[in-house]
Amino acid sequence: MNLRIAIFASGRGSNFQAILAAISAQRLKAQVVLCITNRPEAGALQIAGAAQIPAAVIEEKHFVNGADYEAALLAQLAKHEVNFIVLAGFMRKIPSGVVRQFRHRIVNIHPALLPSFGGKGMYGHRVHEAVLAHGCKVSGATVHLVDEEYDTGVPILQRCVPVLDDDTPETLAARVLEVEHQIYPEALQLFAEERIRVEGRRIKILPKS
Ligand code: GAR
Repeated sequence: MNLRIAIFASGRGSNFQAILAAISAQRLKAQVVLCITNRPEAGALQIAGAAQIPAAVIEEKHFVNGADYEAALLAQLAKHEVNFIVLAGFMRKIPSGVVRQFRHRIVNIHPALLPSFGGKGMYGHRVHEAVLAHGCKVSGATVHLVDEEYDTGVPILQRCVPVLDDDTPETLAARVLEVEHQIYPEALQLFAEERIRVEGRRIKILPKS
């Protein structure tokens, strides 16, 4: 599948950058054709600018209702002929019409081993604080399909990291981020190679043909 990706990002965009690096290194055969953010100050916008990728700031609060917001997102996606959505630190729920139109072609990355430490309000440092507060011995990252709820879609790839005795939320976040940058491009390449088969709540990774 010739992936024409839209990146949705709210923050610094290091996963976006890792995806672009994988494309440049030809570890990922895909094109990023659009970046959408809900925050005009997002670092992701600079990354898009430097890579000459069209970008749009779309903030829900600027629309009179959810339907108009959804329509604005869908219009941008159609304009750039996007066929795959990658959430990379996007801190807003995706409208259900977008999820429906991109079913099984919309993915997210979460900085923990879902279904632990996920759900509404569980993002960024809060996740790592909760992992440490619980006393977990391992954490990790999850790439998963996006459905209508927060962090409940089927996992595609997960990778563990150890939690060390002297970890702070910052040191743990950095260790997890390193594996995020590995598994996100890997997961996308599996889609590019059409090796992902969704079977209910399981994803089968087909062998390389
Ligand atoms: C990443 O750690 C990502 O897993 C997390 O936000 C960070 C974005 O960093 N996402 C969530 O917490 C989603 N619930 P980035 O902007 O540098 O890619």
